[in-house]
Parts: sequence; C-alpha cells; structure tokens
Amino acid sequence: MKAIVYDDYGPPDMLRSEDVPRPTPGDGEVLVKVHTTSINDYDWHLLAGTPFINRIGALRKPKYHVLGSDVAGTVTSVGARVTRFAPGDEVYGDMSSSGFGAFAEYVTAPADTFARKPESLTFEQAAAVPQAGGLAVMAIRSAKPLDAESRVLVNGAGGGVGTFAVQIAKSFGAEVTGVDLGRKLDGIRSVGADHVVDYTERDFAESGEAYDLIVDTASHRSMRAYRRSLRPGGKAALIGGSIPRLLLVMAGGRLVSSYHDRKVSVPMWKTNNDADVTFLTRLLEDGSVVPLVDSVYPLSDLADAFRYYSGQHHTGKIVITV
Ligand SMILES: NC(=O)c1ccc[n+]([C@@H]2O[C@H](COP(=O)([O-])OP(=O)(O)OC[C@H]3O[C@@H](n4cnc5c(N)ncnc54)[C@H](OP(=O)(O)O)[C@@H]3O)[C@@H](O)[C@H]2O)c1
Repeated sequence: MKAIVYDDYGPPDMLRSEDVPRPTPGDGEVLVKVHTTSINDYDWHLLAGTPFINRIGALRKPKYHVLGSDVAGTVTSVGARVTRFAPGDEVYGDMSSSGFGAFAEYVTAPADTFARKPESLTFEQAAAVPQAGGLAVMAIRSAKPLDAESRVLVNGAGGGVGTFAVQIAKSFGAEVTGVDLGRKLDGIRSVGADHVVDYTERDFAESGEAYDLIVDTASHRSMRAYRRSLRPGGKAALIGGSIPRLLLVMAGGRLVSSYHDRKVSVPMWKTNNDADVTFLTRLLEDGSVVPLVDSVYPLSDLADAFRYYSGQHHTGKIVITV
C-alpha cells in the first residue's frame, strides 16, 4: 500500500511516498481502509521533533515512520475477538494512542480506537473530528456544566480544537468569545461566536472581562492572569501552547487551585474516550456541531498541506483525501 513516510525529524520536505506492506489486524484489532485523514498539531510537532518533549524515547530518529492521527474510513476485516464492528462499517477515530499511521491507505488498531461515523457527515468532515473534537469536548467537560448564563472564552478559536470548542459551548446556549488572528475572525463568527478578538490588537487577560470557562489552545499566561479573567467558580482549561507553562500548571496548578475558587488546570487527555465520543457524536448528528474544513489536499500533497498548516492561514481543519 502507499504511505507517506519519514526517517528524520525536520521540515515537510522529509516526507516521501513509499510502498509499504499492508498491516494485518491482530485478534482484537480492525483493518480500516482510510478514506480521509487530517492534520493535527501533534503530527506537526512529531514531524519537526520540536519542542524537545516530542523526542522523548526517540531522541535522534522518529519512533513512528508513518504519522497521521485522524482516520475516517471503512472497516475491511476484523480480528477473531472483535464483535464491535464488521467489514463494511464506516468508522472514525484517533490513532495517536495506537501508533499513528493514518497517512496511508490502510491502518490497523484496537477496535475501541474507532466509533461509527455519524451518517450525517461526509468522510471529509468526519476526518476533521477525532483529535480536535475530542480535545474540545475534554476541555469543556472538565469544567462545571455550561448553561445559557455561562460566559466562555476560547483562545485559539480559529484552530482545529477552537472551532469545535466554540460550537460545543454554543450548543449549551453560552455566550462565547473567540480569540485569534484577525484574518480568522470571520470563520470564528461563522461557527457561532458572539464576540471575536484579534489577539494582535487586544489581550483578553487585560480587558477586564471575566468568564466561567476559558479554553486555551495557545496558553502562555500566568496563573494570576487566568484567575483575573475568571468569574468566581470559573475554570481555565489549558490544552495547548507553551510547554513550560503547561508543565508549571500541571505541577502546581492543582495545589494552588485548591486555595482558590477560580481553577487553572491542564485536563488529562484520553483519546477516543467513550463518553466524550458519544457526547460529540450526538452533537454532530443533530447538527449543533459542523466540522469547519478549511481545505482539502490529496495524500500525495501531504508535504504542501503541512507547509500550509505551519503558515498560520488555516481556520478549522486541513483534511487529506487518501
Ligand atoms: N492537551 C493535550 O493532551 C493535547 C494533545 C494534542 C494536542 N494538543 C494541543 O492542542 C493545541 C491546539 O491544537 P489545534 O489543532 O487547535 O491547533 P491549530 O489548528 O494550529 O490552532 C491553534 C490556533 O491558536 C492560534 N494562536 C496561536 N497563538 C495564539 C495566541 N497567542 N493567542 C490566540 N490564539 C493563538 C493559532 O493561530 P495562528 O498560529 O495562525 O496565529 C491557531 O488558530 C495545540 O497546542 C496542541 O499541541 C494538546
């Protein structure tokens, strides 16, 4: 089968197309024919090998030679112990806990990596969902339930995770502010944000506004700045951004937060969490959440898709057709 492989950390030029053996599913695994996949920040950093934390256990050479987290495709065969799926089922899931590999024609993974693809979604839309949608759900469900009185701020609202977070918060009736680059603000409005802020013009943490939930995909502020921007009982869920900032909050956030009624935390990520997938699938099926697909590239142009991703132009997700 065709796969896009790399042997050394570096820019997208490291990627090349190669014929590799088609994988065979183990007893508890399924073989999925990949129709579509998408680009995630995780793939980008494993390709580049930066920041350094992405080289843990693989200092000089990448551990995974075929990247790609998100899969939308059709089950082709199943292992002897699999009862969850049968050949022909249309599925989607996040491969990042199962060795990546989605930038290829076929993948194998444990059956619980996948869920049934909502019928209402095209394969292009479905490939945009698993990792970014999963992170957005995790961030929102890590805080107390939202309602029509809630005020939510999504920092990095124009990205993959952000465009899902805005829509999920809106599905509860919350008032949502989206922060990102000026050229992404129309896209953020289009997914339902009530207010938008260009981060190059205004710092939300200095605005005097306060929120019940801040979802930050580009975290770099101090704990004090987050607390200042929260209402009593509010929470800042930091899911991406500066690694030192995230490590600091992971190390001390819980302890410090226990003295405050405004919490700052890095929620623990569990890929393909059943409860989160069920919750998000319902929102996708009833149309409350519609994946925002920025652009679509063929697998053969994966390197160009990564170049575009790194150029700060996309709003929503970049999808790859296989
Ligand atoms: N918690 C976990 O376990 C986990 C797992 C996987 C991924 N992640 C993280 O999740 C994060 C989000 O991923 P994603 O797929 O949404 O990435 P993305 O599509 O690149 O979106 C990030 C968005 O944040 C914007 N941004 C950058 N700097 C900003 C700033 N200072 N203020 C406001 N917005 C800013 C970016 O805009 P421009 O760059 O164009 O300015 C972009 O629109 C990444 O940091 C990733 O590492 C976390």
